[in-house]
Amino acid sequence: MALNISEGKKLRDPKKLPEHVAIIMDGNGRWAKRRGMDRVRGHQKGAESVREIVRTSRELGIRWLTLYAFSEENWKRSKYEIRTLMTLLRRFLKTELDEMLENGIRLQAIGRITKLDESTRQTLARTMEQTAQNRDMVLTLALSYGGRQEILDAFRSLALRLELGDISLDQITEETIARSLYTSSMPDPDLLIRTSGEYRVSNFLLWQIAYTEFYVTPTLWPDFGKQEFLLAIEDYEHRERRFGATAEYLERKT
Ligand code: FPP
Repeated sequence: MALNISEGKKLRDPKKLPEHVAIIMDGNGRWAKRRGMDRVRGHQKGAESVREIVRTSRELGIRWLTLYAFSEENWKRSKYEIRTLMTLLRRFLKTELDEMLENGIRLQAIGRITKLDESTRQTLARTMEQTAQNRDMVLTLALSYGGRQEILDAFRSLALRLELGDISLDQITEETIARSLYTSSMPDPDLLIRTSGEYRVSNFLLWQIAYTEFYVTPTLWPDFGKQEFLLAIEDYEHRERRFGATAEYLERKT
């Protein structure tokens, strides 16, 4: 489907648009419960929100969109719920492929992907390969992802390189740590959105969100659509980002 990309661009000042938006998609279960439905119905409706937010991000010209689709902690859910989430993921990858190809969207995944079932890993690998040449937007799905586990994996790989004499102690810097994370090729998020009203980070991108702006909305993920996403972006555009410095200092530097 052709996106209304020029329309999105007209609306906003590209200098103020966040380059990287990350989202903790929360509230699918509650959405279903409030309607007396099974939790998985919430995930099904949530998958439609994923579609709408990916599409809107591309229309706006956002370069990086990262979605928390399945956390390390989510393995504690019932087998039925996990199976449904994986089925929805595979279905999403298949149905959205043409749109990703038409609109220059590259798909990638971060997390302990080897823990996913064979069929989901294959679908993921195929989609990543088919979209690898796309350059306009990167859609990253965090799958079997945990921020602490990511930092642990980075520690281990740096410790190994140190032990092998590949690097020295003073070569362990913020940059080498960042390059050892799953997100090594990505900029840090400018904006982190969390739906369903909880003020928690839930083990998401712990290293990367040091200076990220937060936007929390009570809206449950299945109800989070284009209009609410635009509100979040607009809210971000009014933030003053100082990265720990004063406004005067930043003004002198520009
Ligand atoms: C949180 O809701 C959401 C998840 C655990 C998974 C997110 C999954 C989707 C949006 C559906 C499919 C994904 C893709 C990429 C197509 P919750 O179940 O924790 O809600 P609750 O806190 O109300 O119980």
